[in-house]
Amino acid sequence: MKPVADQPVGIFDSGIGGLTVANSIRQILPNESLIYFGDTAHLPYGDKSEAAIQAYSVKIADVLLKKGCKVIVIACNSASSAAYELLKEYVRYIKIINVIDPMVEWVSEHYENKRIGLIGTKRTVSSGVYSRKFIEANKGIVLQSLATPLLAPMIEEGFFDNQISHEIIAQYLSDPELQNIEALILACTHYPLIKKEISQYYNDRLPILDSSSIVAEALKSYLTDNNLLKTTGPSRHHFLVSDYTDSFEASTQIFFREAVHLERYPLWN
Ligand code: DGL
Repeated sequence: MKPVADQPVGIFDSGIGGLTVANSIRQILPNESLIYFGDTAHLPYGDKSEAAIQAYSVKIADVLLKKGCKVIVIACNSASSAAYELLKEYVRYIKIINVIDPMVEWVSEHYENKRIGLIGTKRTVSSGVYSRKFIEANKGIVLQSLATPLLAPMIEEGFFDNQISHEIIAQYLSDPELQNIEALILACTHYPLIKKEISQYYNDRLPILDSSSIVAEALKSYLTDNNLLKTTGPSRHHFLVSDYTDSFEASTQIFFREAVHLERYPLWN
């Protein structure tokens, strides 16, 4: 069946980090209703195998399709690198938007022939997907990537803007791989929460590129071009998680900038 504008936008992540993307979508597209799925039972994705992330992503896509979503946004770099191609094949009749392509397109347009740094999970960095896509874009961009696996759990635990986070961030950013760069891509949807700290490390002199608003704009273009944009009426958001703890619910406020109620929705019964 052809999707229509009134249907909700589906968004998923390994947990609640993708709420940074959901928040940008809500700001840019205030009339859209969102169904967010956080796979908190399998967090973190960054350390999982490609096959495991693919299996989780297919299950989540089934949930979002059952809930009648008109488009699915993979608000997670690890899942975008491991499962986007598979989901595109699996969900043929609605569009899947990942967080990687809009960023690669934006950077290719603005940083031709530059050296760009990138930090992300082990899964994202070891997949080499950003390097491959920059080579395909053929804009002479040299990518210098570093896996920074401590950052997502650190943020989930509420450790940011303190001495511990400053030291971990400084340790990673001083790595030889990230020297002489002209911008830094935050290739994990948790990292917008430490964007200010990262920028301070560089004395606010290096552009720090965060995908949340770039992805929200890509979604807007897709919905507009396909007559799927909802421009009137109230929005209703639902937040589903595969495992529930009070601390997840408490943390949503940090990521979404507003308290939300999480509904437990196990992927396997
Ligand atoms: N938010 C996920 C991403 O963008 C990372 C968190 C995780 O490891 O689950 O890759």
